[in-house]
Parts: sequence; C-alpha cells; structure tokens
Amino acid sequence: MAEQDPQFEQRKRDHIRIALDSKAQSELSAGLESIELLHEALPDLDFSDLDLRTKFQQHTLSVPFFISSMTAGHEHGEEMNRRLAVFAQERGLVMGVGSQRKELLNGMAAQEWKKIRSEAPRAVLIGNLGIAQLIEAGPEPVLRLIENLQASGIFIHLNPLQEVLQLEGTPHFRGGLRALEALVKACPVPVIVKETGSGFSRPTLERLQNTGIYAVDVSGRGGTHWGRVETLRINESDWRSQSGSVFADWGVSTVQSMMNAKELPLRYQLWASGGVRNGLDVAKLMSLGAEMVGLAQPWLQAVMLPEPMAALAAFADRIEYELKVALFCTGSKTPSELREKWTWRKH
Ligand SMILES: Cc1cc2nc3c(=O)[nH]c(=O)nc-3n(C[C@H](O)[C@H](O)[C@H](O)COP(=O)(O)O)c2cc1C
Repeated sequence: MAEQDPQFEQRKRDHIRIALDSKAQSELSAGLESIELLHEALPDLDFSDLDLRTKFQQHTLSVPFFISSMTAGHEHGEEMNRRLAVFAQERGLVMGVGSQRKELLNGMAAQEWKKIRSEAPRAVLIGNLGIAQLIEAGPEPVLRLIENLQASGIFIHLNPLQEVLQLEGTPHFRGGLRALEALVKACPVPVIVKETGSGFSRPTLERLQNTGIYAVDVSGRGGTHWGRVETLRINESDWRSQSGSVFADWGVSTVQSMMNAKELPLRYQLWASGGVRNGLDVAKLMSLGAEMVGLAQPWLQAVMLPEPMAALAAFADRIEYELKVALFCTGSKTPSELREKWTWRKH
C-alpha cells in the first residue's frame, strides 16, 4: 500500500483553489447564447404538470442534471465529498466522483469512499478514472474501484490538454480505444466517456461508435478550462507558463460538440457538460439531445460556502426552477418531450 504522496495532494489543493478563480474559466463561451428555445405561447400544461424524473439504469432520478466529477484530494476533500454524496442522495441526483487514481495505488483512499458510502448508501454514484490510468492498469483494477464505491457507472475521462500542460502530467494516450473496448467487455456497469472541458470533434465521436460505451459526456469548452488551470499553477517566469497561455482558448465548445454529435447516427447516449451555469443552459442542451447534463464548478462554489448544505439546496432549487420554466414555455411536460420536439433555433 503506497504512502500519502505530498506532491499529489498539493496538486489537488491547487486544482480546487484555482478552479474557484475566474481566471480558470474559459473566456470563449460554451455557445449556449447562440441557441434559442422556441417560445410556446399556448402550452397545454399547468406548471404543476411538469415532471423532471429521469431514468438511469434501474434508478429513477428526480432531475436530469448531475454533479460532474471533481477530485477532492486536499485536507477537506473527504468532508466535501461526504457533503456532496449526502446531498446527491437527499435530492435524488447523480454524483460523478472525482478521479479514483489515488485509490489504484493507495488502499486507504478506498476506505474514505467506504466511509462516505456508509453515510450515503442510496446515492447514485459514478466512478471516475483517466484514460492514461486505464491504459496502464487495464480493466481488472478498475472493476475493484467500481466495487469499492458500489458505483452505478464509470466515467473514463479524456484530458490530453491537461496532461500535456501539467508539469507532472502523464500524456500517455496510445492504445486508448483498445483499453476502452476491453473495459466495456469486462465491466458490469455502464462506461461513460467524458472530456474535462475541451469537448469532442466529430471524428473522435465517430471512433467511439463501436466501443460499446454507454454514453459520451461532451464536456466542452466554455466553463472550467484545464489548460488555464494547469497554466495558473506554473510560475509566470517559466516558459511553460507562456506555452500554456497559447492554449488558453483550446477546445471545442459544448454546443459545437453537441452539433458534431448530432451529425452522427449515434450508438451511445449523449450527455453534456462544460460551462453549464443555469437551468436554461440545461434545457438548451437537452433540446440538442442530451439525456443528462452535468455541472462541476458551480457545485464546488456552493459546497465551499459557510452553510454548504443550504447553499447546495438553493443552487439545485434554482437550476430546477429555471429548467421547469424553460419546459413550460416550450410546452414540454418532460425533458424527453423537450428532446424529441424541434424546440430550438441556432443563430
Ligand atoms: C475542481 C475540479 C476537479 C475536477 N476533477 C475532475 C476529475 O477528477 N475527473 C474528471 O473527469 N473531471 C474532473 N473535472 C472536470 C469536470 O467534471 C467538468 O468536466 C469540467 O469542469 C467542466 O464543467 P464546468 O464548466 O461545469 O466546471 C474537475 C472539475 C473541477 C472544477
């Protein structure tokens, strides 16, 4: 069992601190302002008729938006994850846990999750690991991560920009597609491939078609930008900091990633995240075809406030209300109706 790795812990502390800084947010938008939902002046609905419940495998979730994966890894990390997991259970929403990389090497990290699990036994949690770690470890250890967490699915994150700009990064992606196929074959729960804020081009989405994965979460550019986060960790006098700045706008926006996916007869579900900041954003992405919509940084902001549980609840109430207003004013009773009707126009 490996000892604590101080460099790893410090990196995670940096990530949380920097992710809360506005300089880590993309200056280019997610593209959501270019999408207009079409107003329905005569919805055949009462506001109370709206139904946000969403199925994910055997679970019925209360809402189609979720807490996107965020690594904790600092001294308050366990408490932060405990709060988020308890909240996810209370509210009936999905929580993607942060990268379980540490757990591959350090059995103590699994204990942390087992403890959190005992407080949130019914939370719908999705595990998380980077593709570089999957390539290196193969499917077997990943199955253990899923088991330890009693996860309902596993996110495999793709983050080439972050790995290559991070001073301690592991930009080892050769064999990724094969590693994914092997995991899907061995895995008892859905495998969901996600970016971390740089989105997907059409050819990449196409290459994932025959892997058997359950979904792609496009996680496009427009919100937290990992090129920016890693660059902000580097001393400004270092030339690597200048190189990082060159890539400050890199990536495919969330809306463009969705458009890229819409061109294909997809063999997996489409999920969306990256720069989602209100319930109208959620509605727009659902109208573009997303089954589930994730937010990361806004939940982090809420859980860091002095009254974290109240802040999380207020934020969820707001997103839920705004999503319902969008459903009502497009005459859609459910998120699937919004998805199935032609309710949007692109400027
Ligand atoms: C503090 C922090 C830590 C993150 N850690 C992970 C991670 O461990 N694994 C992962 O797949 N994505 C991770 N992400 C990326 C998010 O899941 C998401 O894809 C990205 O931040 C874009 O969403 P946002 O604009 O709502 O923040 C992290 C994001 C934040 C803010």
